[in-house]
Amino acid sequence: MSSYDAIAELYDPWSASVVEDVAFYLEEARRSGGPVVELGVGTGRIAVPIAADGIRVIGVDSSLGMLEVCARRAALTGVDLDLRVGDLREPPVTERVPLVVCPFRSLLHLRTDEDRRRALGNVHELLASGGRFVFDVFAPGTEDINATHDRWLEREPGIFERAIWNAGDRTLTLTVRGKDSETTMALAWLSAAEWRVLLEASGFEVEACYGWFDRRPYKGDEDMVWVSRRP
Ligand SMILES: C[S@@+](CC[C@H](N)C(=O)[O-])C[C@H]1O[C@@H](n2cnc3c(N)ncnc32)[C@H](O)[C@@H]1O
Repeated sequence: MSSYDAIAELYDPWSASVVEDVAFYLEEARRSGGPVVELGVGTGRIAVPIAADGIRVIGVDSSLGMLEVCARRAALTGVDLDLRVGDLREPPVTERVPLVVCPFRSLLHLRTDEDRRRALGNVHELLASGGRFVFDVFAPGTEDINATHDRWLEREPGIFERAIWNAGDRTLTLTVRGKDSETTMALAWLSAAEWRVLLEASGFEVEACYGWFDRRPYKGDEDMVWVSRRP
């Protein structure tokens, strides 16, 4: 069971306002020519627009519930997605591809460097030479932590979330609650310097670390958008 199974039907309404990354990932997919592997494909928020552009997408996720919603969305849109149940640390993909993406902070679900290294090592393996790994993560600022810690906030109408931040071990316990469903998930964050070390140790060249999806440079704010390359 994945913590996302319980909120698979709630996920799209919960993330309804998250749209700023779609054009960015679509642009990266077009630049690569495909096929694209999306790790943590979820309900297809990013994968479906890419597939609708005529690019083959292999989507990996550990939540059967999310994959079911994703398959439904793909069918409604009239696109084919190659959906695979699996762990992003060991993606069930044997093809070599020019682009692997991991949007919307999914890598924060990995909580140890061992897991992160395992995931990055396997991404490196499944990239063709010159292929890119593009992902986004965040590292919360003190102001954000203080403003939201242990408070129920209405993120979308009728959908609430509560963040319990632990700045000491840099973990976040996030509870999401809708009318009929609720889940709690664990995340962990790293600094930009730490992500860079992990990427380089896994054999990637960092091409860019942006501060947002409009490709502005990262200047120490919360969001990081990484573009890395297998040499
Ligand atoms: C924040 S959602 C992102 C979904 C989608 N990429 C998007 O942008 O909307 C995180 C996704 O990662 C998946 N996930 C979390 N840990 C995973 C793991 N270890 N292996 C595979 N999928 C995982 C969850 O099931 C969920 O669908």
